[in-house]
Amino acid sequence: MKVNWTGFSKKNPAERLQMLKEKGLLQDEHWQLLDSQQTLPLETANQMSENVLATLALPYSLVPDFLVDGKSYQVPFVTEEPSVVAAASFAAKIIKRSGGFETEVHKRQMIGQIALYQVDNADRAIKDILMKKKELLEQANQAYPSIVARGGGARDLWLEPKEDFLIFYLSVDTQEAMGANMLNTMLEAITLPLKDLTGGKSLMAILSNYATDSLVTARCVIGYRFLSRDTAEAELLADKMQLASKLAQVDPYRAATHNKGIFNGIDALVLATGNDWRAVEAGAHAYASREGSYRGLSTWTADPDKRQLHGQMTLPMPIATKGGSIGLNPAVAASFDLLGQPQAKELASLIVSVGLAQNFAALKALVSTGIQAGHMKLQAKSLALQAGAQGEEIAAVASCLTVKKTFNLATAQEILADLRKQDK
Ligand code: HMG
Repeated sequence: MKVNWTGFSKKNPAERLQMLKEKGLLQDEHWQLLDSQQTLPLETANQMSENVLATLALPYSLVPDFLVDGKSYQVPFVTEEPSVVAAASFAAKIIKRSGGFETEVHKRQMIGQIALYQVDNADRAIKDILMKKKELLEQANQAYPSIVARGGGARDLWLEPKEDFLIFYLSVDTQEAMGANMLNTMLEAITLPLKDLTGGKSLMAILSNYATDSLVTARCVIGYRFLSRDTAEAELLADKMQLASKLAQVDPYRAATHNKGIFNGIDALVLATGNDWRAVEAGAHAYASREGSYRGLSTWTADPDKRQLHGQMTLPMPIATKGGSIGLNPAVAASFDLLGQPQAKELASLIVSVGLAQNFAALKALVSTGIQAGHMKLQAKSLALQAGAQGEEIAAVASCLTVKKTFNLATAQEILADLRKQDK
């Protein structure tokens, strides 16, 4: 069904939910759950973690109409930061007009490692282990038969001597799971045979979050005409975005902020789908440093002849659609409903595309109006709320604040006090 999303942001939460229900984008059960605002019962929270006292809520938003590999997604975002949802929605709209995102899932396997030490003859140990490769992979699979039954399992192993260590790596097809328990169980099961084969000791056996066997690439091509109606301004914007992308390759101070902007979107969707955002962040930041210095994860290249701006980003995306807290948190079930129950590869493609979109919006704002114009317009609402504004006062205080020279809580409080005096 074709849905007109224009003005979605101007509706109130109940109207937005009603629209999703009417358009058949959200099942009744999940509509009721989100509408009741009781998304995580304390009893469930108490099962998910330890020493639980309460739950901490965050805004649960929607970025509509994200076109990835020819399919439109309604994307749930969990974030507290003003303008992240607005920026992603804005980018989704422009990139959709230009044909959307195309993605490539290079592989989907997780890597784990066993750090062996005090191995007297590393070369000999490597040879002996590789001779037993088939048996070791079988032993790993026997330790976790359910993943083999689902079509996954241990796929490869290799070794690398590094200083005091001989490091053993195992790569596992984890199917729809993130696979931490799976990998750790398999690794612990083959630690003893490895010690026997090498005569060495084992320091630890653990999954690696540097998920280089789960790389995903997202690409988009944006026609200059979608950057600005003014031809010269569009050209300038494309050139400046290319330069901004270069800056993030040469300066780690800029690269960290550039990548933070990417994670504004990625974390919001990773959180909404109940995935482990620490794992995703750790893997991606390690990947950003793979050439020896920390760099921007995305690149933007201007093609003046075709009048197109090309965006591209590759990063590890070890996410799951099953396991962990995914089946426990009812709001996460609503997210999967909104997304159309994607498989792990499809979700990973969407997440990387969201990161690239978020980066596009941030760079476009940075090299044109500056970040304050859009971001602060929305930040003003937060300051108005913190100052104690209620109902219609919120918009009034926010609007006065955006034209003031000092943009802070004290100014918001002064504006609110003046407003209330005038109303008396
Ligand atoms: P604009 O051109 O003023 O937007 O940009 P507009 O009012 O013309 O609206 C265009 C569309 O944007 C709307 O279409 C919505 O889709 C969306 P409509 O629905 O009206 O047909 N939109 C909104 N959606 C939801 N709520 C809203 C809203 N406003 C617009 N309130 C915009 C305004 C904020 C989009 C733009 O200025 C922008 O993208 N700025 C970038 C903001 C940003 O990146 N914020 C993240 C926080 S800053 C940060 O942490 C990262 C950073 O440091 C990273 C880096 O340095 O690389 C910047």
